Amino acid sequence: MRVLVTGGAGFIGSHFVRLLAGGGASVVVLDKLTYAGNLANLEGIDHVFVHGDIADPAAVATAAAGCDAIVNFAAETHVDRSILGPAEFVHTDVLGTMCLLEAARESGARYVQVSTDEVYGDLEAGGRAREGDPLRPSSPYSAAKAGGDLQVLAYVRTYGVRASITRGANTYGPNQYPEKLVPLFVTNAFEGEPLPVYGDGKQVREWLHAEDHCAGVERVLHEGAPGEIYNIGGEDHENIEVTRRILELTGADPALVRHVEDRAGHDRRYAVDDSKLRALGWTPEHSFGEGGLSATVEWYHENRAWWEPIKSGVYRAYYEEQYANRLKA
Ligand code: NAD
Ligand code: TYD
Repeated sequence: MRVLVTGGAGFIGSHFVRLLAGGGASVVVLDKLTYAGNLANLEGIDHVFVHGDIADPAAVATAAAGCDAIVNFAAETHVDRSILGPAEFVHTDVLGTMCLLEAARESGARYVQVSTDEVYGDLEAGGRAREGDPLRPSSPYSAAKAGGDLQVLAYVRTYGVRASITRGANTYGPNQYPEKLVPLFVTNAFEGEPLPVYGDGKQVREWLHAEDHCAGVERVLHEGAPGEIYNIGGEDHENIEVTRRILELTGADPALVRHVEDRAGHDRRYAVDDSKLRALGWTPEHSFGEGGLSATVEWYHENRAWWEPIKSGVYRAYYEEQYANRLKA
């Protein structure tokens, strides 16, 4: 099988390329190499690399030629950046998705859209989102991802494209760019920098290891039905609990924790029901609380050469814009 993996130089996409290539598939990666794309993530993994934008039909045609399937991980992915500037999110997550669907329509390739649990918006304590629930995205990021999902469903119904959607929970693991909660707090803890907790820190996220996320996507690629959506869940924890655990695992000073101004429109809780995917035989292998987070902290400890160069340069400008005023207040 020849599979086009878009966004394969990013965090979860690179784990997926490793999984497919390890299973003997022939993999083509199409990636724009934005700030989040990193060829070091693909070192030692057999693949063909095409540098380009998923919203550019010519680049998509080159990369998709001869592929039996397209799995779309490419996206602008960070909520805080979407609040600073939504345009790139619409370009990649909506228009880019449509360009890939056009390629699947043309060639008849199987298509999997890697979406997010954030499209459901936040949930009251107790409930868990099912795949048929209404979309209530809160941020420009989740609104753009929801727009991509709707394009997929329209292409299934109108053109018969054989597409499925996965909606994964908050993902953690090696090779995650240090802007999201886990890698930001772990690397800041190692550097003796503040850990900026938004608001009261009692927001709840479900934590899913990148390898479990990829195993779910692979299962949907092979066994999912066209037009169907599959949630991929994780383990529920409050942000403040995750923060405390990171302090313990890194041995950092608890005084580094700073409660700062909350994120605009901040969702309080995400939670999904993933029984539909489990019925296809998927079960997670990593537990966040029992080994998953500690192994990830260990990876960042041993791979400073991966993240230290990232945390200088353009990263600093983003960090200043996002946190300087919050940390001064
Ligand atoms: P990431 O930000 O680490 O990587 C995104 C990759 O996409 C990068 O390699 C980047 O260069 C590439 N890219 C961005 N715009 C592109 C474009 N226009 N054309 C081609 N390539 C482009 O992302 P991630 O965290 O690995 O997320 C991968 C996918 O999983 C995304 O679709 C995201 O919405 C989804 N997802 C992520 C999480 C999470 O917690 N990280 C949870 C659920 C779903
Ligand atoms: P994040 O990793 O950005 O993922 P998402 O917004 O997609 O869930 O954030 C996870 C949680 O951590 C979310 O509730 C926001 C919070 N958070 C902080 O408290 N401080 C931070 O500096 C960041 C990046 C996130």
